[in-house]
Amino acid sequence: MFSEDFNEAASWLASAKRVVVFTGAGVSAESGIPTFRDAVGFWSRFTPETFATWQGLLDTANTQPAELTRFLIALLEPIAAARPNPAHLAIAEMDKHASVTVITQNVDGLHQDAGSGRVLEVHGSLLEVVDQEQRRIRNLTRADLVKIVRRLQRAEAHPEKKDLLAWAIRPLASLTPPGGYRPRIVLFGDQMAEPDWSEALQAAEECDCFLTVGTSGTVMPAAWLPSRARVAGAMVIGVGPESGVGDTCLQGQAGEIMPKLVQAAFSDAT
Ligand code: OAD
Repeated sequence: MFSEDFNEAASWLASAKRVVVFTGAGVSAESGIPTFRDAVGFWSRFTPETFATWQGLLDTANTQPAELTRFLIALLEPIAAARPNPAHLAIAEMDKHASVTVITQNVDGLHQDAGSGRVLEVHGSLLEVVDQEQRRIRNLTRADLVKIVRRLQRAEAHPEKKDLLAWAIRPLASLTPPGGYRPRIVLFGDQMAEPDWSEALQAAEECDCFLTVGTSGTVMPAAWLPSRARVAGAMVIGVGPESGVGDTCLQGQAGEIMPKLVQAAFSDAT
């Protein structure tokens, strides 16, 4: 019924003492959050040079506020509405059977909502707001994000009212330093989020089995983690629609493969 690769992956997982699950945007695709680099991905609609750097965002706020408003709605609306999908839930289920560290590049908080115990967010989180010294000053809920999206939609409908954009995002970011604050997310050129990144490097080197789920593996330095794990002796399993990294590659949607894999590895798992 299952392929040889699938059975091999399940047996590595079953016998592993320490497991790392390394996730990217693909793990949340079935929760309705677009990926970045697929044909209809985020970066096909918004150029990363502009929208994935703080300077680009600030410049856009000053010169093209309507475009920034459109970007923020596209980013926040799916995350505000998202719920964990079967892949997140299966990954959380693994906590009952092994010592699991989830390392995620996602900023959507869905692994925590699914119940995973140890989640390292190496690109930070959209649900935390920090000041300029990166001190956490506030957590946000999905309900807060819904409120921000509604305000942004009002700003979009009334581009002539210049103050509406700043008002809309006030819970998330202040565009006017000093005293500024922003979400604790990592954009291009930023340092990785700490202490999560240091702990992720250690977890990758200490695990026996490293699963990479729903990531294109193109963004450094996070994309180094699978090879670091392999060099340190872990078996690497890749899960996603394309054949990618991994000693074994399980091709398909994470929401279909992960529950089956967890079930096969730990036969009493649901
Ligand atoms: P990408 O958009 O680069 O890759 C998403 C991967 O998920 C692709 O390999 C897809 O084929 C795969 N995929 C799509 N649907 C899937 C599904 N249902 N199940 C499993 N896999 C699926 O996203 P990331 O690799 O996460 O960083 O991108 C890494 C970083 O690039 C992001 O964290 C972000 C972005 O720029 C920053 O902004 C710093």
